[in-house]
Amino acid sequence: MKIQIINGPNLNLLGKRETSIYGSQSFDEYFITLQKRFPSFELAYYQSNVEGEIVNKLHEVGFSFDGIIINAGAYTHTSIAIHDAIGGIKTPTVEVHISNVYAREEYRHKSLITSKCIGMMTGFGLESYALALEYFKQKTAL
Ligand code: DQA
Repeated sequence: MKIQIINGPNLNLLGKRETSIYGSQSFDEYFITLQKRFPSFELAYYQSNVEGEIVNKLHEVGFSFDGIIINAGAYTHTSIAIHDAIGGIKTPTVEVHISNVYAREEYRHKSLITSKCIGMMTGFGLESYALALEYFKQKTAL
């Protein structure tokens, strides 16, 4: 089972960026714990601050991987291109957010990508990614 995790803009700063909201762990560090916790999955991780690069990555993995977990960062709220890319690929995609976007500024309440995703995990800190992986694990166990 091949799962691609995609992080969008500013998520390369996890651990340093607004730690009261996003926590003090870097994603590279957290990714290692995910690999240990989900040994049956082949996990790949990609981060970009560039919208078109995220679209390219979705195209690249979206016909061969078994699942995609995407935190599109601020592009969540603005990107029709990412919405269209998720809509155009075959791989089921789960949206995640570290913070609870509904408990924050109103401009974060709207996601342009949820309608093309299986669903969304929001507000569980970095554990949002593990919960999305749990979904794929349950799905394969069925
Ligand atoms: C975020 C929430 C977005 O609103 C924000 O722009 C981010 C991170 C989250 O993971 O909580 O960059 O996607």
